[in-house]
Amino acid sequence: MIFGDTQEHWIKSLLKTFGREEMKVVQVGAWDGHETEQMAQIVSAFNGKLIVIDWFKGQISIDDENDIFYTEDEEVIKQRIKTFWSHINPKHHDVIDLRIGDSKELIPQIEDNSVDFFHIDGAHEYEEVKRDISLAFPKVKLNGFICGDDYSGDYEYLRINKLTDEQLSQDTILVPGYGHDTDGNITPHVHAGVVKAVWEFFFGDVMYNLPQNKWCHVKGHTLTGNLGAFKGGKKFEGEDWDWEKDDPHKKL
Ligand SMILES: C[S@@+](CC[C@H](N)C(=O)[O-])C[C@H]1O[C@@H](n2cnc3c(N)ncnc32)[C@H](O)[C@@H]1O
Repeated sequence: MIFGDTQEHWIKSLLKTFGREEMKVVQVGAWDGHETEQMAQIVSAFNGKLIVIDWFKGQISIDDENDIFYTEDEEVIKQRIKTFWSHINPKHHDVIDLRIGDSKELIPQIEDNSVDFFHIDGAHEYEEVKRDISLAFPKVKLNGFICGDDYSGDYEYLRINKLTDEQLSQDTILVPGYGHDTDGNITPHVHAGVVKAVWEFFFGDVMYNLPQNKWCHVKGHTLTGNLGAFKGGKKFEGEDWDWEKDDPHKKL
């Protein structure tokens, strides 16, 4: 059993830095539980609660079996839930309130203006992310954080507003950016749906951190710019893309 990674996830750094006594934290998109375990360590230290939402079906636009593929097979889903719990230290079970199901049905069940930190890393397709953010925002307290993963490119520079609906309905597209593979290596992939949904929802009033792919907005504040303070996360530990060898700008 592995209880968390040796390297610190970005969201753990954020919770550690801005944690509040008895904080209420929500994670949408837990997958194998590694990140959840790290969040639970900090939430537990602050005597808080962690609501975790995942349907464990995977990403609707992914069918590659080496990735987080979509399935409705009950056995596979059961196995994924088992894997999730295998990465959670039993002493954190009490802190975690796992809610299994579709985020669009489960986020509305959370009380409005009650969440201190809302972390979104569920679906990555544009319409789905837009929906998750719109549902999550009213749940966040004034001065609370709403943030997430996979903000993997610059909205203006990549001309994200020019992409087709087909490109935006993918989990990831191959254009210059800061995606990461399963080993944490940085690759020129962009979760275009995430970048577009986040940028447009907040009218650009969002902090982001490339190449760590993180985005963050503090409710009631205007804090744009780079989230450079949170460089402890594991996404920096991989190999960077070899831009000399294959310049993906040519593929734009
Ligand atoms: C990228 S993974 C999360 C990874 C995790 N945050 C981490 O860093 O280890 C995305 C997760 O979101 C879940 N997901 C995707 N769409 C969803 C939806 N509509 N409702 C609930 N969960 C969803 C998938 O099952 C998957 O486990």
